[in-house]
Amino acid sequence: MPGFVVVGAQWGDEGKGKLVDVFAEKSDLVVRYQGGANAGHTLVVNGKKTVLHLIPSGILHPKTQCVIAPGVVVDVFGLVNEIKMVKANGYLRDPSQLKVSDNATLLLPYHKLLDAAREKDLAEGKIGTTGKGIGPAYEDRASRRALLMADLFEPETLKAKLEFAIGEKNHLLKNMYQTEGTDPVALTQELLEIARELAPYRCDDTSLFVDKYLKENGRVIFEGAQGAMLDNFHGSYPFVTSSSTVAGSACTGTGLGPSRIKTVTGVFKAYTTRVGTGPFPTELDNEIGAKIRAEGHEFGATTGRPRRCGWLDLVALRYAIRINGMTNLALMKLDILSGHDHVGICNAYNLNGQTLTELPPSTQTLSRVEPVIEWLPGWKEDISQITEMTQLPPAAKAYIEYLKTHIDVPIEIVSVGPGREQTLWIRPFFEG
Ligand code: IMP
Repeated sequence: MPGFVVVGAQWGDEGKGKLVDVFAEKSDLVVRYQGGANAGHTLVVNGKKTVLHLIPSGILHPKTQCVIAPGVVVDVFGLVNEIKMVKANGYLRDPSQLKVSDNATLLLPYHKLLDAAREKDLAEGKIGTTGKGIGPAYEDRASRRALLMADLFEPETLKAKLEFAIGEKNHLLKNMYQTEGTDPVALTQELLEIARELAPYRCDDTSLFVDKYLKENGRVIFEGAQGAMLDNFHGSYPFVTSSSTVAGSACTGTGLGPSRIKTVTGVFKAYTTRVGTGPFPTELDNEIGAKIRAEGHEFGATTGRPRRCGWLDLVALRYAIRINGMTNLALMKLDILSGHDHVGICNAYNLNGQTLTELPPSTQTLSRVEPVIEWLPGWKEDISQITEMTQLPPAAKAYIEYLKTHIDVPIEIVSVGPGREQTLWIRPFFEG
């Protein structure tokens, strides 16, 4: 059976974690294939919150297998803490439920030091990263000096590679950024401890592991992190993350061909948020934005930073649909839009009097556009407890109808709250 990819259709934080958790109940395997602990997937089960950064959101279903694939940069210290946290919450009782690829990249403390030093150096021009060391870790992978998960289990290799890597990083940290470096001896010792903790989760070939599930008709979900607009190639560069966040990355990050994917579900919120710097055409730097932020709890799951909030941007959404090849959509957090007299939707941009209906790829141009906002009647009712689409207030239904006429991919799921049960199924996801 071909796989299902779940990707963010905006700037991240769309609610992918909740959706993957809901799908995982009917799935055999969930694969994380890019990004690192910059992701924060918040899951609420029976009112209890679990925030995952690296472990796939399928972990809350004991029968669902989880894989961290080669495309991920793994903060091994963070991963060990996360494993302890999920175990303490009663999950991951059997270590074989989680497999971490030997070929995944190690994200080490010096990557975080470099991330922080670079951001400080950029001052006003900073990216606004999560500070989790993502950029420097992917740089090491691309420049062929990264340590891999497999190196954790080869003490001599680990020691030699660390000495080489730290020699270079300390030079940069001390001489270029005037900051403290890392002690290779202490870090080697710490990593040998970490290796003992992670040994039960080791997998030499996660691509083969996933391939077997697909061949044996298993249901496999590929769980994206961040969002399409933060893609290193297709987002508003340089205000992007350092991995490829689009659906194609499920193939490259896992080690599978595109013919193995059937469905690409794009997840988007009824409004837009963005954390960090960079153009955001529909941003509401006013009390409406503040209301959305407060009611939507729009504060970073990883950093706690307040997220920038704005109206839904259909120009950006159509772009995300195109570059991901999305086959269907999930509309999240519709409940947060309750309580407005009117709700805005951006269906085009204005650039010096010219109307644009396609997103301009240039970051400079995107930062100059003005959103053309269309106003729809709002609704005041609390919709977080409804269980059927038919129970939505007429204005909320009209809002969805408007979306449907302006995008050419079906909206098949609507979410009205963080709980699993607050999910309205327009069409059973796995049918057909
Ligand atoms: P980095 O991925 O930490 O290097 O951060 C680069 C940019 O991506 C910054 O604007 C971050 O705020 C943003 N970013 C990274 N991960 C996430 C995420 O999971 N949700 C939302 N924004 C993110």
